[in-house]
Amino acid sequence: MRKLFGVIGCPIHHSMSPLMHNDAFKRAGIDAYYHAFHVEKEHLKDAVQGMKALGIAGFNVTIPHKTAIIPFLDEIDEMALQIGAVNTVVNENGRLIGYNTDGEGFVRALCEELNIKLEGKHILLIGAGGAARGIYFSLARSKAACIDLCNRTVSKAEELIHERTIPVLSRAYSIHEAQQLLGNYDIIINTTSVGMYPNVEEMPLSLDNLRKGTVVSDIIYNPLETMLLKEAKRCGAITQNGVGMFVYQGALAFEKWTGIFPDTARMKQMVIQQLG
Ligand code: ATR
Repeated sequence: MRKLFGVIGCPIHHSMSPLMHNDAFKRAGIDAYYHAFHVEKEHLKDAVQGMKALGIAGFNVTIPHKTAIIPFLDEIDEMALQIGAVNTVVNENGRLIGYNTDGEGFVRALCEELNIKLEGKHILLIGAGGAARGIYFSLARSKAACIDLCNRTVSKAEELIHERTIPVLSRAYSIHEAQQLLGNYDIIINTTSVGMYPNVEEMPLSLDNLRKGTVVSDIIYNPLETMLLKEAKRCGAITQNGVGMFVYQGALAFEKWTGIFPDTARMKQMVIQQLG
């Protein structure tokens, strides 16, 4: 029997997930269909119960439901619980289990696309919001030498550092302090929405002190090249946009549903085609 999958969010009409997953199912020879469902905040509980009642095999969760969905699921994976957000749900024999593949998706994209190892690296995360949480806790599992955070509101960076359970060296800085220290880092990651369409001229911090050869990764994929990445490239940095993270979070969700890790290069090509 054909299995059903999907994504719930609001707005959802621009989602690239159906294209990516339906193609991956086809290539894996799995009889399945993935649909984008528009779910308003006040209908979230009913929607989740409906997914369960209909026997939907699995689904993704996106803005604004990633945190709100937690009480409506039967079980939450430990990492998703620590992050405080779920982006992937697996229906295991009628029980809905929540996972988070965003943070690991980012880390896998960073290491695999750029062919780098995190061991011994000095990393700076810009931002301390929802996206930063997943990335920070996932990075903390690597053998990075330090993972520092900088944020417009420094207290939020401090709070996030206090929540970590793995003892990795981390310091919280203001944006101004981080700008002065920029030359100390091997990898700089923007997790904020600064520079996202339509505010494409904005940058989360200035790159005056950037070292040549530093990796600068931005989780934004609209535009494909943010002002931060343009500027970083100009300074001789190795840059990465947010398409990789999007593709890998999807690939990891697909793997949880099917046991198969899909062709991420193909997924990436499809996403870029749709964005372009
Ligand atoms: P998300 O889930 O996308 O991470 P969020 O939880 O609202 O969204 O977090 C947004 C992040 O972007 C925060 O780190 C936020 O900084 P504050 O904690 O100071 O609010 C940062 N951010 C958003 N707009 C910003 C701006 N114009 N300048 C600097 N930082 C900004």
